Amino acid sequence: MRAAMASADVGDDVYGEDPTVARLEARIAALLGKESAIFVPSGTMGNQLAIALHTKPGDEVVCGAKAHPVLYECGAAAALSGVSLAETQRPFFGAGELAARVQPSAYYMPRTRLVSFENTHNRAGGRVWPAALLDESVREARRLGLATHLDGARLWNAVAATGTTAEHLAQGMDSVTVCLSKGLGAPAGSVLAGTKAFIEGARRLRKMWGGGMRQVGVLAAAGLYALDHEWPRLADDHRRARAFAEALERSTGFAIDVEAVETNIVNVEYTLGRDVRLAVEALREAHVWVSSLGPAQMRVVFHRDVDDAGLAWAIDRFRSVGESLAGGAW
Ligand SMILES: Cc1ncc(COP(=O)(O)O)c(C=O)c1O
Repeated sequence: MRAAMASADVGDDVYGEDPTVARLEARIAALLGKESAIFVPSGTMGNQLAIALHTKPGDEVVCGAKAHPVLYECGAAAALSGVSLAETQRPFFGAGELAARVQPSAYYMPRTRLVSFENTHNRAGGRVWPAALLDESVREARRLGLATHLDGARLWNAVAATGTTAEHLAQGMDSVTVCLSKGLGAPAGSVLAGTKAFIEGARRLRKMWGGGMRQVGVLAAAGLYALDHEWPRLADDHRRARAFAEALERSTGFAIDVEAVETNIVNVEYTLGRDVRLAVEALREAHVWVSSLGPAQMRVVFHRDVDDAGLAWAIDRFRSVGESLAGGAW
C-alpha cells in the first residue's frame, strides 16, 4: 500500500485534475451501481454531506437505533444541516417501524425527509442488515416519498459476510458512503456516491466545509490498493472474530453472544459487575487493545494487523485477565 501511494499519479483534485482520485471515484461508483462518486476525507463527511443535500433545516432524518450520526458525529446533523435525527427502537427496522417514525403531516411537526441505513451496523457489533428486512424497509421509504442514504462505512464487510454484491446492497439507496479506512486499512478516505447532480452538489459543499484536497491521489491510491488486496481478505477477520467469540463465549468475567458475531466486531459483556475499564486497562497492559462501550461492555475488532497468533494471544490474555479480576487481583 505504501509503495502504491508513493508511485501514484497525482494532480490538483480541487481542479478535478487528479487521475488517481478520478479512477477511485469511477471504480466505486461502478461497484455501487451509482452514476457518480466523490472522494472525501472521512466517513463522517460523507454522511453529513448526504444529510445536508437530502434535507432542509427543520427536517427530520430517521436512523436505526445507535446509528453513527446519532452517537459519534458531534451532533453535526443539527449543527451543519439544522435537522433532527429520529432513532428507531432497534438498529434494523421493518416497514411498520419506519412508518411509525415518520412524522404526521402538520405544519408544526418536523418534516421527515430521509432514512439512513447503516450496514454493517457498528454499535450493533458489526451485524449485517437482514436482507428481507432491508428490502422491505427501503421499499417502504420509497413508497413514503423519503430519500434513502446508506452509511456503508463497512459495506465491504457486509459483502464479504453475505456473498452478495455491493451494488445489490446499495440498491434503492439514493446515496451511499463507503470508507476505505476501516477494515480495508487505508490511512484515510471515504467515498460518497449518488446521481451526477447529487455529487455535483456534494463537490460544492465539500469545498465549503474545507474538504477539498489537492494532490490527494496518494490517498486514493491507498484506497484502490485496498479494494484489490484488503477487501478479499476480510473473511479472515470474520473467521477470527467468530473463533474469538466461540473461545470466550462463557468465560470467567466475559460473555459473548456468538450468533451476533457476523463480521469483524465482537461486543463483549463484562460480567464481574465492576467498571469495565479495569478489564480494558489490564488487557492493554497485556498488549491487547480494546475499547469500552459503556459501563459493562467492550468492543473488540479484528483487522489486518491481527493474525492467528494475535488471535491466540488475545484469547489467552482475556482468559487470564478474567481469572485475575474474578480473583480480586485488581
Ligand atoms: C458506521 C460508521 N459510519 C461512519 C463512520 C465515520 O467514519 P470516519 O471515522 O471516517 O469519520 C464510522 C466510524 O467508525 C462508522 O462506524
